[in-house]
Amino acid sequence: MADGSWYDTDIDHVIISEQQIRDKIDELAKQVSVDHTDADGGILLVCVLKGAVMFMADFARALGKHGPSTEMEFMAVSSYGQGTTSSGVVRILKDLDRDITGRHVLVVEDIVDSGLTLSWLMKYLESRQPASVEVVALFRKPDAVKVQVPVRYVGFDIPSEFVVGYGLDFSERYRELPYVGVLKPEVYARS
Ligand code: XMP
Ligand code: MG
Repeated sequence: MADGSWYDTDIDHVIISEQQIRDKIDELAKQVSVDHTDADGGILLVCVLKGAVMFMADFARALGKHGPSTEMEFMAVSSYGQGTTSSGVVRILKDLDRDITGRHVLVVEDIVDSGLTLSWLMKYLESRQPASVEVVALFRKPDAVKVQVPVRYVGFDIPSEFVVGYGLDFSERYRELPYVGVLKPEVYARS
């Protein structure tokens, strides 16, 4: 892999490069900006921790260049355990800090897989009477089409394999990778 960082030895192959991520985020930010020129009160970005942390930081900065103004909120939900399969149960680990009534909410998600987490989250947010709730997801897997979740903005459609990097983890590791890739099978074997 690229420059010999420690994690490169654990990565089998890169799916989306650092440059591709950067370009896509700029593209998404421009699109969101065009679509929300008259969003009353700006956009309230709701980052879904922890996976979306990198995306939130880069996306918010990109959006800042175009407008409208944004504010940030963070939620943490858990749908996966320590491993790579969905538990099917969504738990709130960290709730919103304030009222979202009448606000234009944009959920910032790392990846939509089964769509289970997102469909649950959408219902939860809608019950708090925002002016609107939309979703921007950096990655989407093919299974996502099985559940009816309206994801307005999608960065990349990726294959249905478990990926790490750019915020995405395997047992809390690999979030710091600047790209998104697939781990070598032996990494799972030794954990
Ligand atoms: P669902 O199936 O509910 O899952 O749409 C969405 C959440 O599951 C996590 N997820 C992943 N995390 N690599 C990860 O590190 C993956 O390939 C992956 N696929 C799903 C993620 O937290 C997402 O919000
Ligand atoms: Mg995770």
